[in-house]
Amino acid sequence: MNKQQTFDLFGRHVSAGKAKFYQDAGIDFVLGRREGPYMWDLDGSRRLINCHCNGGVFNLGHHNPRIVAALEEALTGLDIGNHHLVSEQRARLAARLAELTPGDLQYAIFGVSGGEAVDAAIKIARKATQRPKIISASLGYHGHTGLALAAGADKFSAPFLSQSSDFIHIPFNDPIALEQALDDQVAAVILETIPATAGMLIPDDSYLPQVQELCRRNGTIYIADEVQTGLGRTGKLWGVEHYGVEPDILVIGKGLSGGLYPITATMITPELEQVFHEDPFLHISTFGGAEVGCPVAERVLKISSDPEFLRNVNETATILHAGIQALQAQAAPTFAEFRGKGLMMGLKMAAPELGLLMTKATFESGLFCVYSGLDPSVLQFLPPLITDKALAAEILERLGNAFTLAAEHKI
Ligand SMILES: Cc1ncc(COP(=O)(O)O)c(C=O)c1O
Repeated sequence: MNKQQTFDLFGRHVSAGKAKFYQDAGIDFVLGRREGPYMWDLDGSRRLINCHCNGGVFNLGHHNPRIVAALEEALTGLDIGNHHLVSEQRARLAARLAELTPGDLQYAIFGVSGGEAVDAAIKIARKATQRPKIISASLGYHGHTGLALAAGADKFSAPFLSQSSDFIHIPFNDPIALEQALDDQVAAVILETIPATAGMLIPDDSYLPQVQELCRRNGTIYIADEVQTGLGRTGKLWGVEHYGVEPDILVIGKGLSGGLYPITATMITPELEQVFHEDPFLHISTFGGAEVGCPVAERVLKISSDPEFLRNVNETATILHAGIQALQAQAAPTFAEFRGKGLMMGLKMAAPELGLLMTKATFESGLFCVYSGLDPSVLQFLPPLITDKALAAEILERLGNAFTLAAEHKI
């Protein structure tokens, strides 16, 4: 099938709106070959450096050979497994996650998607506290499933009548708003460590410690959604490590899959695990923690927790931050603000329509970037964590070209 035929078929049977959006935007790209940091168009005519990585799914690049090997090996003997039974693969992976996560997070509830993992976190917090209310950031994003959807921004929940008075939204980075919203009915506060869909909001250093303290004082569970910030994206294995906090629940998704086999984990303390003592089958997931996916996730953890790997993330981040800030000085006032923690970056433009313009300009310049769904003025910038110095230099050069194209209105 050629590109146009794919667009037509996709528009007729998958999503008419998405096909039209990309064609109208001039981003006539259909994903073909992919390898390492690169993605090629179906007809091979265009090569892009993936600077979005699906929010972290491709942290280790496409088809990382070490992850492919883990999956191939797993496929020789394993399959999905049986979620009713005890499993060696799930036990091993959970134990490794327990070793690597902060605080006393000893148990893993496995899922298939980040939304499912967030749903599990909210269910556990509610059952443990016997309280109904959940506090989250008004521009937060936690997934498109039931409870996760209600916890996220109204933009995604209102069209589906998924809002409820039990879900309270407060501004991010505002401890006073949180203090005022907390009462004896609040089961949990759920926050992305760096809200990505909101435009990569970097919290003040004191904010998350205050959140943790306020939660503890109120008997409320603090859930850290590390679906995007986890697994080395910010230069530490977990984003919360930058702030010295130890959440009661930590949600891991996207990158745990190695881009090859979907798997997510909701990490909880032994105290919270007690919610399942009476009935351990109260929360189940047929495909959650599929056995073929467990060795893949273990391999991801091995690579991502290696100090050398994290050192490279930080070195690359230093180069990219400096380079992007230099571009910002040239492109001011259009390029209003640079936000970054490690390789989790956001380029805030001066107006909402400029996010789409920059998405197109970067596309024309050989980079794949996506603007933030809840703040379209922000271009999300998430290059693979395997980016080396040479690739970082190429990314900066292409980004510079994109700003030139945008300034000359050539897109
Ligand atoms: C911070 C965060 N949490 C949760 C999710 C939901 O993950 P999934 O799409 O796998 O359900 C996402 C997805 O983008 C996310 O960015």
